Amino acid sequence: MKAFVCTEFGPVDNCAVEEIELRPPDDDQVLIEVHSASLNFPDALMVEGRYQFKPPLPFSPGMDLAGIVREVGTNITHVAPGDKVIAFSGHGAFAEMCLAPRDKIVPMPAGMTFDAAAAFGITYSTAIHAFQECGRLQPGETVLVLGAAGGVGIAAIEVAKAMGARVIAAASTDEKLALCREKGADLTINYNSEDLRKRTLELTDGRGADVIFDPVGGEYSMTAFRATAWGGRLLVVGFAAGDIPRIPLNYALLSERSIVGVFWGAWAARDVEGQRRNLATMARWFTEGKIAPVIDSTIDLAQIPEAMKRLMDRKVKGKVVVRVRKA
Ligand SMILES: NC(=O)c1ccc[n+]([C@@H]2O[C@H](COP(=O)([O-])OP(=O)(O)OC[C@H]3O[C@@H](n4cnc5c(N)ncnc54)[C@H](OP(=O)(O)O)[C@@H]3O)[C@@H](O)[C@H]2O)c1
Repeated sequence: MKAFVCTEFGPVDNCAVEEIELRPPDDDQVLIEVHSASLNFPDALMVEGRYQFKPPLPFSPGMDLAGIVREVGTNITHVAPGDKVIAFSGHGAFAEMCLAPRDKIVPMPAGMTFDAAAAFGITYSTAIHAFQECGRLQPGETVLVLGAAGGVGIAAIEVAKAMGARVIAAASTDEKLALCREKGADLTINYNSEDLRKRTLELTDGRGADVIFDPVGGEYSMTAFRATAWGGRLLVVGFAAGDIPRIPLNYALLSERSIVGVFWGAWAARDVEGQRRNLATMARWFTEGKIAPVIDSTIDLAQIPEAMKRLMDRKVKGKVVVRVRKA
């Protein structure tokens, strides 16, 4: 089968599309014919050897996919050959076939295309878990989303709106912010040209935001944390800007604010039922038209290096989908 293969950690240009051997599933695995997969920020880090998890070489990156079950291991009962599924494979999704572990496979919601399903899994699961289990977001609260036009950012806007919050989207260009408004953001801040803290306070009548959704890190985290209301929560989702911020704890003490870590993948492995519940909620929101992933572009396996560079250069809005085979 064809796969996009990384043979050594380093620049993505060292990876190539190659023919590789297909392995049968073990007892707890499912073999999936991949139709669409999507790019996530950690894919680029994994290829460079900068991600927290380093797969044994050679490997195919790609952790978010939609396709059709072709073979199941002896312990698998919740899906069967022929089922359309979404899978979170850890790696291996940028290939014609992918092996995924039992607990990381769910039926594809009715009415979804393979492209939308591949663009939906990780980002929307992260957003709902962040707001529900970590941030305990309440209807009527104000959420500030950083990096709001990125993959998890767009998902955060839609999920927060679906949960009844008021959303302020913050991003680096007016074009990105226009997309955020289309996806439901009530208000926007361009953090390249406006003072993030001052504008957040102005837009909340001096109170500050109740919940900050932060996949960016760097200098933005502390600025946003200081624009949090009494009892506010900073959801630490990621560090796309590269730097891991250090926040003086007096900012937490002064307004009884909390800093809450979000690690969706680890949580979903520990609370399989909770993740199933969240997916059911998201499938309902999708049917009701409340959430729908934004697809920036659709590419083939050979175009992954170019797309990964665009992602790292902040040029992607929403998700890049890799169409591995035609539907
Ligand atoms: N904790 C979890 O469970 C979890 C789950 C999924 C993803 N994540 C993490 O969330 C982060 C975002 O993932 P994503 O898939 O949404 O990525 P993405 O689509 O690339 O979005 C990241 C956004 O960050 C902003 N950004 C600011 N400085 C940047 C820089 N130097 N380089 C790149 N982007 C920069 C960009 O928006 P502007 O240009 O508007 O600033 C960009 O749109 C990643 O760190 C990822 O690992 C965490």
